[in-house]
Amino acid sequence: MMHRLLLALPPEPAHRLSLKALQWGLAGRAPQPDPRLAVRLWGQTFPSPLGLAAGFDKQGQVMAPLLRLGLGFVEVGTITPAPQPGNPGPRVFRAPAQRAVINRYGFNSEGHACVQARLSAFRAAHPEAALGINLGMNKATARPLDAYKKGVELFEDLATYLVINLSSPNTQGLRDQQTQGLGELIDDLQAARRHATPLLLKVAPDLGRDQIALIAETARAKRLDGLIVANTTLDRPATLPPAFAAQAGGLSGAPLRDKALAVLAAFYSHLQGDVPLIAVGGLMSGGDAVARLRAGADLLQCYTGLIYRGPKLIQEINQAVLQAIQHAGLDSPAALKGTVA
Ligand code: FNR
Repeated sequence: MMHRLLLALPPEPAHRLSLKALQWGLAGRAPQPDPRLAVRLWGQTFPSPLGLAAGFDKQGQVMAPLLRLGLGFVEVGTITPAPQPGNPGPRVFRAPAQRAVINRYGFNSEGHACVQARLSAFRAAHPEAALGINLGMNKATARPLDAYKKGVELFEDLATYLVINLSSPNTQGLRDQQTQGLGELIDDLQAARRHATPLLLKVAPDLGRDQIALIAETARAKRLDGLIVANTTLDRPATLPPAFAAQAGGLSGAPLRDKALAVLAAFYSHLQGDVPLIAVGGLMSGGDAVARLRAGADLLQCYTGLIYRGPKLIQEINQAVLQAIQHAGLDSPAALKGTVA
């Protein structure tokens, strides 16, 4: 079991080795998703509602082998305009008993030009693949809008959807833009598009009721194509080991599950399907995935669950969603949306 070996290594070397294993074809291949799992959204077919969240394939190196594991889509990035190293290490930490991770990578990125070259080659070979591209800004950016505009212009032809990441806790001031001047930012980025490539916003889970209402209403009014709910949290639940909890950065995995689900449900209660939602945060089992669809998600993503459970989590989630559809006599994961009991 490859992921058990990886868990024996420190987190960042394990991440690097997992990328190598995928590049070398050692991760294998799983059955492709059952055709009944397909989701149609933005005029595109996602073979399964489950995708890989941003932050694993930051540099766009392993999309094809990832898609062979049974995922419906992959989100690459976060990509910054200029290359930057991110924070000094160590910058990723695990709490295995809690199935949690804290990271403060701080957008280590090979930069737009380098990643764009890789994604162009991938797109030429895989014209149908569902590929999200997550855009960020450099640490020393005085003008965030320019960073995102450049990203939109450079990547819109390659992306199935583009993500404006305003929710990393590891870039100072980034999260403030979720509410300050959000409408103008969306206007400017939509105007920068030459095509109708879907434009999404990725939000933090650490939002109050008023902030959720404001973001939801802005998204609806500006006809944003979707929201990704949510990024890592700054919370430190009391159940975490103190030395782990003391690390700066964003917390992901099982301790984020309930909060991410509640924030998703709050967005859905405002939006009622008017703006599509991608649910992420603490999906550790098939049951978690079904609960997120019922709470209003169109698509799902996971990351930390794969660290602890390995690629078999993908099969488990695909199976669970298929069973939920069949059990309810439905014909697509989309039909589960908002059917929470
Ligand atoms: C992330 N995440 C992340 N998100 C993002 O938008 N851009 C990024 O570069 C990263 N980088 C990153 C690195 C690491 C090591 C982790 C664990 C996470 C956040 C990720 O996409 C997701 O939103 C959260 O991790 C919550 O989902 P899980 O991990 O609980 O399934």
